[in-house]
Amino acid sequence: MGREKSGEMAFEEFISGMRTLYEKKLTPEPHWQKAKELLEQLVNNKNFKEMTDSWPTGDGKQYVIYEDPDYGFVVDGLVRGHYHAAVAHDHAHTWTAYGIVSGWERMTRYVRTDDGSDSERADLQLVSSEICEAGTVDIIPPWDIHTESNEDNRAVALSVRSETLGHFDQNIFLEDGRVSTIRGLTRVGFALDGTLTQADT
Ligand SMILES: [Fe+2]
Repeated sequence: MGREKSGEMAFEEFISGMRTLYEKKLTPEPHWQKAKELLEQLVNNKNFKEMTDSWPTGDGKQYVIYEDPDYGFVVDGLVRGHYHAAVAHDHAHTWTAYGIVSGWERMTRYVRTDDGSDSERADLQLVSSEICEAGTVDIIPPWDIHTESNEDNRAVALSVRSETLGHFDQNIFLEDGRVSTIRGLTRVGFALDGTLTQADT
């Protein structure tokens, strides 16, 4: 290979950096701030970005690239087609570092203005709506209400999560004020070269 490390090597370094970070047993805020810095290095690696150019669009799917056997964190790839717009949702009790590898996405955040006592209805207020460019990483704390959306651009993102989604309810917040729950996107096994490795349950 040339002077720059390969995309695979950058990914391996990220995983090993995350495992070293977990060994430090930091509290969540500093832990995820460090995870953000590690993920920034990965999503800014030119060779890694080029590797994702061939990843197939996966609307409604999350590509499970890595699951850590000891610490439980996962790395999911998300490849959005044009005009993807998630309904407002949270990631329940989990933490996420969300890095844009290619293209851009808009991150829109909300806060509940009701007292939270009604499990079926919520009043949301817009907090912020920002474009996240390729190479940037956002932290999504537990219960943070947000949407990701794009326009006529392809967007590739990596979600580094404190644990895998799909095994517990996440809240979704409908435009008419109703609250419901989902069990996340369809999870499929995925290799860095863009091949689907196995169907996940
Ligand atoms: Fe999300």
